[in-house]
Amino acid sequence: MTKVITYGTFDMLHYGHIRLLERAKALGDYLIVGITSDDYDKTRGKINNQDSLMQRVAAVKETGLADEIIVEEYEGQKIDDIKKYNVDIFTVGSDWIGYFDYLSDYCKVVYLPRTEGVSSSFVRAEQRKLRIGLVGSGMLSVKFAKEAKFVNGADVVGLCSPDGQLLLEDVDHTQDYNELLDNTDAVYIFSKPEEHYKAIKKALEKGKHVLCESPLAYTADEVSELYAMAEEKGLILMDAIKTAYSTAYERLILLAKSGKIGQVVSVTAACTSLKDNLAPGMDFSRHWNSMCAWGPSAMLPIFDIFGTDYKQLTYYTKFLDKAANMDAFTKINFVYASGVASATAAKGAKAEGELIITGTKGYIYVPAPWWKTDYFEVRFENPENNRRFFYQLDGEGIRYEIAAFAKSVSAGKNISYVSQAVSEAIVRVVEGFNAKRNMIELM
Ligand code: CTP
Repeated sequence: MTKVITYGTFDMLHYGHIRLLERAKALGDYLIVGITSDDYDKTRGKINNQDSLMQRVAAVKETGLADEIIVEEYEGQKIDDIKKYNVDIFTVGSDWIGYFDYLSDYCKVVYLPRTEGVSSSFVRAEQRKLRIGLVGSGMLSVKFAKEAKFVNGADVVGLCSPDGQLLLEDVDHTQDYNELLDNTDAVYIFSKPEEHYKAIKKALEKGKHVLCESPLAYTADEVSELYAMAEEKGLILMDAIKTAYSTAYERLILLAKSGKIGQVVSVTAACTSLKDNLAPGMDFSRHWNSMCAWGPSAMLPIFDIFGTDYKQLTYYTKFLDKAANMDAFTKINFVYASGVASATAAKGAKAEGELIITGTKGYIYVPAPWWKTDYFEVRFENPENNRRFFYQLDGEGIRYEIAAFAKSVSAGKNISYVSQAVSEAIVRVVEGFNAKRNMIELM
């Protein structure tokens, strides 16, 4: 019996895939199809799959051409599979010519002519793209527009910057928010936090989807109102905390919750940056304060692990300019029934930007800058048990965030990695900070 193996993503299964499978099958008597896992695809830079692994498996199965389906999960697996399944022929499309010649040490390698004129990328690009308008000033627009280029379903078409900054080529600039809304399906808002509520509300009123930097509003009532409004209108409202979309972050939260380090008793997260060179007496009107710039990211792991039902909260704040609500440093201490947590946010002080999750059996350590990490360690009393975890991270998570936003819109279902409860809890903390409730001021 001649065994043949082939591999692919097989997203949005199309005619080219079926022709490839038919010819692969005809090369022998038994066809094994390896389908890439979502994680493995991410490491190959494929972040746009529309179909989940299970959907892709089901689609290949339905063709009736595969005798066996396996999942491809890691670099180098092909050699393992060829040996394990006693494969005689490895085959893929001619777009890979030369690339897999090294497998000829293990079996025969055949490149089949690729079917012209069709590919998953093409099918995805043919779908209607989400036209996104950017709202705010500063370099975030450049970063966002650059990352959006990697996402098949999204297109940045406009920028509404109140100070008329001309930062992006190939994009219409306007200072009129209404005009931007009229020409887009969705907006990404990164203007100053005090402007978020009005900007989101207006976008939702006009039937536009919204991705907005955290905090989404200044009061808990406002943020609940916005989420209710989005739901009623069938629109997506997403909190843009890029860290939530980093695979390493997502996995370390799951690991902490799985009991691997025992019961979690403490979470400490610090996010600081002196980049803005803030100094007393400056005009702060264009700057985010430390609380809003870094607080949401620093609070994210705390709420993700302990939930939002804390018993006590205290702010320790050093102001640069109290009247302008500009803090140089804020540390927020939370007390929960089962543990304690602290979030440090600073634009006028520097600390090691690490995340430490302490459990009764061990701890998770994420080195600085933990909010854009591709790596973490799980450490125990006996160092022999320590483990290191590495994941792919492209574009600091922004790329994955845009992909999740576009996918949410096309599926009509919010697949945000920042839950509404977390998003609202962040706003409640910001609201308490603005009211200077439970605040100990550092002189
Ligand atoms: N294939 C083919 N003809 C096409 C498209 C794909 O023969 N028009 C083959 C590929 O060469 C590969 C297999 O089908 O052997 C699975 O390819 P995959 O990468 O999943 O499909 P693409 O459509 O090329 O996907 P993408 O556009 O995302 O790269």
